[in-house]
Amino acid sequence: MGFTFTTMTLNLLLLMAMVATNILSLYHLSTTLQSPKSPKAPTAVPDQLLHQLHTIRATINHLTRLQNTNPTKKSSIPPDLLLYSHLAPIASSCHNHPELLHKYMTYTPFSLCPSDSDLAESLILRGCHPLPRRRCFSQTPQKPIPPNSLPHHPFPSSLPDNAVVWDHYTCKSFQCLNRQNPNLGFEPSLDASKFNSYKTDLDLPIHQLFQIAKAAKSVLRLGLDLGGGTGSFAAAMKLRNVTVVTTTMNVAAPNSEAVALRGLVPLHVPLQQRLPLFDGVVDLVRCGRAVNRWIPLPVMEFLLLDLDRVLRGGGYLWLDHFFSKGVDLEKVYAPLIGKLGYKKVKWAMGNKTDASGIKNGELFLTALLQKPVSR
Ligand SMILES: *[C@@H]1O[C@H](CO)[C@@H](O)[C@H](O)[C@H]1NC(C)=O
Ligand SMILES: *[C@@H]1O[C@H](CO)[C@@H](O)[C@H](O)[C@H]1NC(C)=O
Repeated sequence: MGFTFTTMTLNLLLLMAMVATNILSLYHLSTTLQSPKSPKAPTAVPDQLLHQLHTIRATINHLTRLQNTNPTKKSSIPPDLLLYSHLAPIASSCHNHPELLHKYMTYTPFSLCPSDSDLAESLILRGCHPLPRRRCFSQTPQKPIPPNSLPHHPFPSSLPDNAVVWDHYTCKSFQCLNRQNPNLGFEPSLDASKFNSYKTDLDLPIHQLFQIAKAAKSVLRLGLDLGGGTGSFAAAMKLRNVTVVTTTMNVAAPNSEAVALRGLVPLHVPLQQRLPLFDGVVDLVRCGRAVNRWIPLPVMEFLLLDLDRVLRGGGYLWLDHFFSKGVDLEKVYAPLIGKLGYKKVKWAMGNKTDASGIKNGELFLTALLQKPVSR
């Protein structure tokens, strides 16, 4: 009953939107017919009309989307940065969120942009990427950063707090973020040995990675770390003279700023969009724990194929602690990875022994795969 009623209401709204479109078109036709002699009026009206038509179209798209959502179906995806990753191979999703987009595009040109980095993040996570450009000045921190507080080493013991606009975070300092979770790299020096240790078969220390590449007469110079948080992998590779760019989102923490303050390159891109890199240009792609079973399968397929696109022939794809339900790893993910046709250099599985791992019967997979030199 409730659902039927909602459908009817939506149909009515759609009908009204269409009628409004037609009335506007008629209005446009009649005004242009009535005032053929005035040269200024016809240019003023179409702009306004176009704008209104756009708004109506965005509303129709939005309503159609609402109508297609089954309200009884509950999502099992955790409240995380992957929540909004849905299938959008092209950046067509901006129009699906007219309220957010409208809010984002409401500003005064050539003045300070609204303090809305959280809004930008919401839009990007919903697939609106790249964001539309604006003609306002982005917010900057209030106090200047003393030049000597910018670290040269990628594993400094602290990061300068006044390099960040903290408005939208509960924490107001890197120290606070580090107290909340010391594993996130906001005190970078704590991560200095992270990629050098070998505790279980799921680890792949960097020196081993270099040995493997060397034995295969392959060179590592350029890499991509996908969902790389505060950039500790890129930092460890920098010490080896390898350039790694890190994709990261500012979900609940200034990750991009932290990466940049370490002298590394943050790419502000979500997991569901085409990577801003050319075909066949990187020697190595690492997927950290952001890439796991929470990503809907069709998105995962597009993601893996896009990673294949940016890797050069003979380049390496490293899945670092990928996790999924044990049965899915065998039945779904291993066959999907197999479709890439890569050489399995390392393939290690292990039980995920934290609370959610035990509850869901999850396994970890760490795999190092080599792309064929030519296809
Ligand atoms: C990195 O490059 C510097 C300068 O060329 C060199 O001194 C250093 O030995 C290199 N480090 C590694 C690990 O190759
Ligand atoms: C996971 O643990 C079970 C026993 O609890 C064991 O039989 C199995 O071999 C383990 N799997 C892996 C991949 O280590």
